[in-house]
Amino acid sequence: METLRIGGVDCRSLADEFGTPLYVYDEAKIMKQADDAVLNFSSDKFDTEVVYASKAFSSVALFKLLAAQGIGFDVVSGGELYCAMKAGVGMDKVYFHGNNKSDQEIEMALDAGIGYFVIDNVMECNRLVGLAEKRKRSTKVLLRINPGISAHTHEYIMTSKPDSKFGIYIENKEHIYNVIDTLKESPYIRLAGFHSHIGSQIIDAESFEKALGTMIEFLAEMKRSKGLDNLELSIGGGFGIKYVAEDDPVPLGQMCANLVRYAEEALKKSGVTISKLITEPGRAMVGEAGYTIYTIGDMKKSGDKNYIFVDGGMSDNIRHALYDAEYTCVLPEKFSKEPQISYCIAGKNCESGDILIADIMLPEAETGDLLTIYSTGAYGYSMASNYNRLGRPAVVFARDGKARLIIKRETYEDQYRLEV
Ligand code: LLP
Repeated sequence: METLRIGGVDCRSLADEFGTPLYVYDEAKIMKQADDAVLNFSSDKFDTEVVYASKAFSSVALFKLLAAQGIGFDVVSGGELYCAMKAGVGMDKVYFHGNNKSDQEIEMALDAGIGYFVIDNVMECNRLVGLAEKRKRSTKVLLRINPGISAHTHEYIMTSKPDSKFGIYIENKEHIYNVIDTLKESPYIRLAGFHSHIGSQIIDAESFEKALGTMIEFLAEMKRSKGLDNLELSIGGGFGIKYVAEDDPVPLGQMCANLVRYAEEALKKSGVTISKLITEPGRAMVGEAGYTIYTIGDMKKSGDKNYIFVDGGMSDNIRHALYDAEYTCVLPEKFSKEPQISYCIAGKNCESGDILIADIMLPEAETGDLLTIYSTGAYGYSMASNYNRLGRPAVVFARDGKARLIIKRETYEDQYRLEV
């Protein structure tokens, strides 16, 4: 029977062995993305580094896999840093991002000896300088600049408007110089370079090129005004992936190659040099490699809608409820049957917005059928919740016809462990 296999394992075997809802990653797809990024993001003019934005999905097994490919890690909290420490990844390749890092998180990262802090604002810079002095720990810093480029994506995941909460706006020279001057005085902290990130799920290459061009002009200005040269530049992440048939993103490897070439040319024109170019893909590394398998429970017609209810919902994938994100799915055991009925795929959470796919044509579905949603590998598990006390699903890696559990299903007991 024709069926959907993930990493060579068919969905029914996965469901029988691990239960549903279940997140399954095709491990080979993750490795391919990692390889493509590392191979193509390279230059003979400067060093390069691919850093995985772990907010997309963090797990010890994944971190080990990526670290083995030479990839670094962007973490935004003590929790993500802890995961990197548990995975035993090289701390020199860890970049600590995020606004409003707590003193405790900063101290934890200093003690762990991470490679870089990506500073968000002047107050954070002052706190970091103080804490590094107190603990006599050295570290490098990138300063996050908001280049003010508006890319076409959902407002909630746009990060580069002039009033964005992230980074220091490129025109705000007072704050930028304040950070540069403070770090010049610090015996423990060195300004290694600058960082920018313009948003997420961005399909068009032009927005990235615009941001890169703007940041290189900014570097030229820093050279003129502050005598800074040969610094590191991170261009962030945000590369879009394919969710539905209409999406046509530039493949990650090609995007990486284009950006390096673009940077080389823009640097030549502007007369500045950089020592390293960094990129931080999250979604593009794991998104399309991930699938969620559900079991269909009850079904009903309500008004004009044919509802299929699945055994998970917004608690394991909030992206449709939050961003109107679109997905596609199949009934893996009816793979070759003609789609003939329009369904709305809803979850079991207590909320009208608990919809996973608003409208999709599928073959006639029955209770007990499996339903597999594609491209759930990024910001699915990492944004999952215990809403309605649903346990988070298990996560499995599948490869060469074999599946292995990497995160267990959350039990009722797991949820009540913290109750006092
Ligand atoms: N670097 C920085 C500084 C970021 O803020 C982000 C994402 C990334 C890299 C990685 O972006 P990616 O390559 O994954 O697009 N929850 C939203 C996405 C929020 C992204 C936040 N920052 C979603 O589900 O679409």
